[in-house]
Amino acid sequence: MKNFETLDVRPLSPALGAEIVGIDLKENLNDAVMASLREALGSYGVIFFRDQDLTPEAHIALAKRFAPIDINRFFKPVDGYPMIAEVRKEPDQKRNIGGVWHTDHSYDEAPAMGSVLLAREVPDVGGDTLFASMGLAYEMLSEGLKQTLSGLKAWHSSRHAFGHGGTTAELQREGRIQNPDLATQDAAHPVVISHPQTHRKTLYVNPGFTRRFDGWTEAESKPLLDFLYAHATRPEFTCRFRWQEGSIAIWDNRATWHFAMNDYAGQRRLMHRITLEGEPLH
Ligand code: SIN
Repeated sequence: MKNFETLDVRPLSPALGAEIVGIDLKENLNDAVMASLREALGSYGVIFFRDQDLTPEAHIALAKRFAPIDINRFFKPVDGYPMIAEVRKEPDQKRNIGGVWHTDHSYDEAPAMGSVLLAREVPDVGGDTLFASMGLAYEMLSEGLKQTLSGLKAWHSSRHAFGHGGTTAELQREGRIQNPDLATQDAAHPVVISHPQTHRKTLYVNPGFTRRFDGWTEAESKPLLDFLYAHATRPEFTCRFRWQEGSIAIWDNRATWHFAMNDYAGQRRLMHRITLEGEPLH
């Protein structure tokens, strides 16, 4: 067991994201280190590590140190490891998984608190992941719009994404996304949540899964949602991570959105993702 007085944390952008160096995540990390990692995740929204040589078992063990695992219903699992979702794009495939701004599992009553994504095979260049800070996006709204949003709820759903004929239909035909019959989740969450760990006020709608404001039609909701989506992805609220084999990102799904770039035609990209259980949001 290794003892770390403090973590060596290198922020990636002023908005969010930090790389943590000098730590081997396959070690049995002591409670003080785990507490520091959780604190870093709360402060930066997403933390990155390089050159981690993790077996699937070690990936699972690491994830379980943060929270119980929330098995994704729709991603094809890694052979022999139902807890690990495969995020794969082959050289001849056109669509990627996660190529829309979103936060994982927001359609659940208790949305996933985080995700632990490990790069197994990456393109020479391209295939970066973008992250955006929803705490900062909220803070940079006008007081008037903050007031309008306070008290509003929004409905999130898995149906239009993972159901039959949904936005992932091509991925379903290719076997990368599965179980369309299980896409039955609808959940209403506050549009502005108090983050369960940091208590920072945070915007909690996303282009991937949010359908409408509670009590509003989809048509009525669309202009305001579109405004919020354009606002929340302003470059100064984001960071961008360039992957190498063995890189890991651990992100907080309540505090951030992410977007997987699809700019590496003709090359394979293979990632292993574990999702972490969360709690109802208020
Ligand atoms: C995801 O959306 O969870 C995958 C992100 C990525 O592959 O970069």
